[in-house]
Amino acid sequence: MPRLDASARSAAPSHDDAAAAPDGRVADAAFHERTTDGARGASRRALLLGGAATLASGAAGVALGYRFRTEIRDVKLHALAWPLDVPGGMDSFRREASRIDEARARQTADDVRTLKTRYESAVFGQVRMWDLMERLALCIDPSDRRLFCGSQFVHAQQAFAAMQANGVDDPDMLLLALIHDLGKVLLLAHEAPENVVGTTKRIADGEPGAGLARAVFQFGHGEFLHSRIAGLVPEHVAWVVRWHNIHPDVQAPYMTAQEREWTERWLVPFKRFDGGFVSPYYVPKVDLAFCRELVERAFPSPVLV
Ligand SMILES: [Fe+2]
Ligand SMILES: [Fe+2]
Repeated sequence: MPRLDASARSAAPSHDDAAAAPDGRVADAAFHERTTDGARGASRRALLLGGAATLASGAAGVALGYRFRTEIRDVKLHALAWPLDVPGGMDSFRREASRIDEARARQTADDVRTLKTRYESAVFGQVRMWDLMERLALCIDPSDRRLFCGSQFVHAQQAFAAMQANGVDDPDMLLLALIHDLGKVLLLAHEAPENVVGTTKRIADGEPGAGLARAVFQFGHGEFLHSRIAGLVPEHVAWVVRWHNIHPDVQAPYMTAQEREWTERWLVPFKRFDGGFVSPYYVPKVDLAFCRELVERAFPSPVLV
């Protein structure tokens, strides 16, 4: 609102003065001019301020809209499907992942013994390792909150592509990128995910420097695959497969000198590629014929899995 100064107020006509037409009109016109100019300036400022505020809130709205664009699109798509639904809801991934983590943390030494006994028998029979690799395309790790619905076949290629892009050409390392999570095919054999996926922690036993195998670790895909490939590949490759998802710093005291050497030479560099390039948005470009050749060369005959 425009504010009137004292002179404007004194010149302001009243109903009583309205009879003094000429002077009154002049005074009225002067007042009108002043107040209109003031009002114009003020309303221009108000308009500018209002415009700036609108722009700012518009920009904030656009930024927020952009930030939450996936969620907004999901809400729209849900609205399209309403009232249809799926068990657990469309956003159930994280809840299931938490359930798996919690269940895995409850695995006991007895459970590990039972699982090891269960998988002394063959699950898939004699298979070519490349055929098993391709079955990773059917495996989704329901605990992996970085890969989400991306398949394990994609994950293996991501690690492989990242190695190549960073100049790794050691065939053992490249083979590890491809096969390290092959044990997750147990997901296709109806094993509970908490016994297959997730990290591998020590449950019991273990003596300083005596070796990881002397302790009881959680059972999972590393242990399963190791039981199938030990003796078929170089010892350090089988060892990395078995322990690829431990925390090396935590378990180092239980390792032998040889294991500590393998940790430094193979495990730690491997883990950078295993964990560092997991993404639902990264489509790796790899030469699958070359990948197949590497796997076939490492496993020229079918393996009892
Ligand atoms: Fe793994
Ligand atoms: Fe992995």
